[in-house]
Amino acid sequence: MASSSSRGRRYVCGACGATYGYWLGQCQACGAWNRLEEQSDSVAQRFGSVGKKGSGAGAGAGVQGDMDMVTVSQNSAPSEQKRYTCGIDEFDRVCGGGLVTGGVVLVGGAPGIGKSTLMMQLAHGLSRHHKTVYISGEESVEQVAARARRLGCDGAFMVAHANGVHKILHSLEKSKDLRCLILDSVQSFYVEGLESAAGTINQVRAVASVFIEFARSRGICVLFVGHVTKDGGLAGPKLLEHMVDTVLYFEHEFKDHLRVLRVTKNRYGASHELGFFEMTTTGLRQVVDPSLFFLSDHREGVAGCALFPSMEGGRSIVLEIQALVARTSFGLPRRSAIGFDLGRLLMILAVLEAKCGLSFGGHDIYVNVVGGMKVRDAAGDVAVAAAVLSALSGRALPSGVVFCGEIGLSGEIRDVTRTALRLQEAQKRGFRGAFVPEKATKKVKTTAFRFFSLTDVVNMVELLGIMPQKRAGGSRRETPTVTERQT
Ligand code: TYD
Ligand code: MG
Repeated sequence: MASSSSRGRRYVCGACGATYGYWLGQCQACGAWNRLEEQSDSVAQRFGSVGKKGSGAGAGAGVQGDMDMVTVSQNSAPSEQKRYTCGIDEFDRVCGGGLVTGGVVLVGGAPGIGKSTLMMQLAHGLSRHHKTVYISGEESVEQVAARARRLGCDGAFMVAHANGVHKILHSLEKSKDLRCLILDSVQSFYVEGLESAAGTINQVRAVASVFIEFARSRGICVLFVGHVTKDGGLAGPKLLEHMVDTVLYFEHEFKDHLRVLRVTKNRYGASHELGFFEMTTTGLRQVVDPSLFFLSDHREGVAGCALFPSMEGGRSIVLEIQALVARTSFGLPRRSAIGFDLGRLLMILAVLEAKCGLSFGGHDIYVNVVGGMKVRDAAGDVAVAAAVLSALSGRALPSGVVFCGEIGLSGEIRDVTRTALRLQEAQKRGFRGAFVPEKATKKVKTTAFRFFSLTDVVNMVELLGIMPQKRAGGSRRETPTVTERQT
């Protein structure tokens, strides 16, 4: 990367934060076009010193004493960080059990998705026990207050409208008991004295660094709302995501009124959690039982439907996987997968063809995960295979039964993680039978389920009662063992 030019100017990529001494149309680091913005060194130094009282602007200026170093055992800080809960379980769980004191959370999402609504409900919940300030850079105090009243968020949180960071910090100095600060949105604030306009890379980075410093030094929780760009990334430099402790995306990819809060980074908890909310006329309502939500339209006794207990973060959700097998009427057979990896579907079909003597050559095959959920878990292979086999034969799968297991290239069905948790959720939903890998039947001790033990795809096809077509010149084989197939 080039260093600062002699003119004291540098150019920063808005997508990845790479720095150049000259302007380029395309960033050499990430390939983004037209994202380089000019930044003067004096500006960079100035925003580095914002918010740090008495610190010098130049390197080495104002340095007093050495930094302290301690061994981990010498440090007296408690090993569990203090957390503030807002009482909205779906949010607290996604954050790993609540907001961490001194931590900074970034909540991104498309316009109109409900970020401000969520923040207001959060502020309402937090303010029950902790002093909370909600600062809107986009809406006036009257607008915010009117919306809060309509949502029933008339808690003790304070609202304000401001854009200048110095002004905000100056006002908050007096508020010694402040515990949580919500800034909506990070793109609408500016650090006074910086040349660029609010929302530009320099400003977003400066605003974030000032408030992160503020959060750390005062031990308060800071939440930034962030806009997303057309391609789904958070507006502003990618660096912003590196700077904060937790990144949450508020998304709208399922049924119309359903919203999903997805964590993509969390320094203080698991990073694959999902929180479900429903947008109603009176704000966001949490969906505490997503399985029930996704199974609400499930019909028993329909060919091509298999139920799969998936894992989403630390929680299991039973999903319906549907398949349609239709005779190809024109040209090449079509394969389509919605909510499931197409490459994986092709692999499953190839294994079924190679090991069970089935032929999909003359059929179009469509697979869909109901409700718009995405199955990224290889444990969904068996459910997809069962749905396809059921659709092919036109016979419904046994009712009250779930399917899970991974299919290997040699046709073996492999064990998957957290079977006990998956079955616990299935049991809660009233399922009493499970097609699971043989190993899982030995590990999971429960009398609540009738287990159908799976060793390989041939054994699965036979258990389902869907007989493979005879191979040309060959007779149907006995269920092979893994050893037989490998030789
Ligand atoms: P908002 O929280 O302003 O979105 P963002 O801050 O992400 O831009 O939400 C606005 C949308 O939510 C708007 O389309 C209307 C809808 N909405 C409801 O359906 N019910 C409600 O109670 C509220 C407050 C908003
Ligand atoms: Mg908003």
